[in-house]
Amino acid sequence: MTTTLETPAFDFAPYRSLSNEELTDRINAVRRKQGSRLMILGHHYQQDEVIAQSDLRGDSYQLSKMAADSGDCRHIVFCGVHFMAETADILANRPEKIAARDGHRVDVILPDMAAGCSMADMAAIDQVENAWEDLGELIDTNDITPVTYINSAASLKSFVGRHGGIVCTSSNAASVLKWAFARTSRVLFFPDQHLGRNTAQTMGIPNDQMPVWNPYDLEFGGNTAEAIRNSKVILWKGHCSVHQMFKKEHVAAFRRDYPGIQILVHPECMQEVNEIADVSGSTGKIIETVRNAPAGTKWAIGTELHLVNRLKQEHPEQEIHFLSPVVCMCATMYRIDLAHLCWSLENLDAGTPVNVVRVDDETSQWSRTALERMLSVT
Ligand code: 13P
Ligand code: SF4
Repeated sequence: MTTTLETPAFDFAPYRSLSNEELTDRINAVRRKQGSRLMILGHHYQQDEVIAQSDLRGDSYQLSKMAADSGDCRHIVFCGVHFMAETADILANRPEKIAARDGHRVDVILPDMAAGCSMADMAAIDQVENAWEDLGELIDTNDITPVTYINSAASLKSFVGRHGGIVCTSSNAASVLKWAFARTSRVLFFPDQHLGRNTAQTMGIPNDQMPVWNPYDLEFGGNTAEAIRNSKVILWKGHCSVHQMFKKEHVAAFRRDYPGIQILVHPECMQEVNEIADVSGSTGKIIETVRNAPAGTKWAIGTELHLVNRLKQEHPEQEIHFLSPVVCMCATMYRIDLAHLCWSLENLDAGTPVNVVRVDDETSQWSRTALERMLSVT
C-alpha cells in the first residue's frame, strides 16, 4: 500500500533535465538540513551514484536490521525495491518504536514506485491461500511451516505470520529452515524455488522430496498426490529473472579459460549452477568473500551487474569477471536514480512526502510476527 499524503510541492518532470552534479548538490543540501532525521538506505544492486548518497548500504537482511534499529530518524528513503520498503515500514514502526518516538511514525519512501521485484510478483496472496487449501486436502497443514523469502509482498509475510511461519533472506535461509524443521516435518517455501532448493540441498534433502508447486496448474500445483505426500519442501514456481541468466556452461567456460578461477554466485541461481560454484551466498557474503581474499585471486561472479562492477572497481588487486556473457541487471532496482532520489528528498523537505510506503495495521502486525521470528533466529 502506498500513500502520497498531500499534493507534492514539486512535480517530477523538471528533475529529468538536471545534471548529476546539480542533483548531487541538491541532494546533499537536503541531507545536511535533515541531519539525523533522515536515513537513506541503499541495496548493493543500486547504481554507484545512488550508493554514494546512501548513509548505509547492505543486503536484504542487513537493511531490515538497519530499519529495525533505526533510532530517532523520521524518514527512511529506501533505495531498493518495493518489498524492502514495506519491510522497513513494518520494522521501523513497531509499536514500541513509535512509543519511544513519542507517537511519531517513520515515513518510508521509495523514490520510484515502479521499483518492484518480478520474483515477488510471482506469488500472489490469493494463489498462496488457494495452494494452502489444496494442500490441506492431501496433508495436514498443521505439519507445514510456510516460509517466505523476504522478496515477497507484505501480504505473504502476513500469511506466514498467521500460520506459524517465518521470513528468510538469502543470508539466513539455512538457519530458518532448521527452525522450521524443528517445528514441523514439512515446509512450503515461496516465492523463489532456487533459494529453497539450494538451501534444502545443503541439508541433505533430495530433489524428489521437493516438488514444485505451479500456481497456474489447478491440479495440486501440477503434482501427483503421492509427490505431495512424499514431500519435505514444497517449492513455489518462482525465480529471479536476473539470476536465471547464469548457466553451468558459463562456469565451465571460465574454468577452462582461467585456470584457478573461483566461482562465486548468489543462491537465487539455478541448482545446476549453485552446486558447482565454489561459494554461494547473499550479496553481503559475496562482498565479504571478495574483501577477505588475497590479492591476485581470480573470480567469476554470478549476481547483478552493478554489484559486480563495483567490486571490480573497489578491488583492483583481484581479477573479477562477470559470470555471464550477457548483461544481467535488475531493471527495477535501476529505476532508482538521482533524479527520483532528489525529487523525493525535496518533497520530503517541503513537508509533502511522496511515495510513502505504508503497510496497513493488520498486515503489518502479522508480518512483524514473521519478521521478528526471523530476526530472533539469526
Ligand atoms: P540479498 O539479500 O542477497 O541482498 O538479495 C536481494 C536480492 O534481491 C537478490 O536478488
Ligand atoms: Fe527481484 Fe531479482 Fe531484482 Fe532481486 S535481482 S530485486 S530478486 S528481480
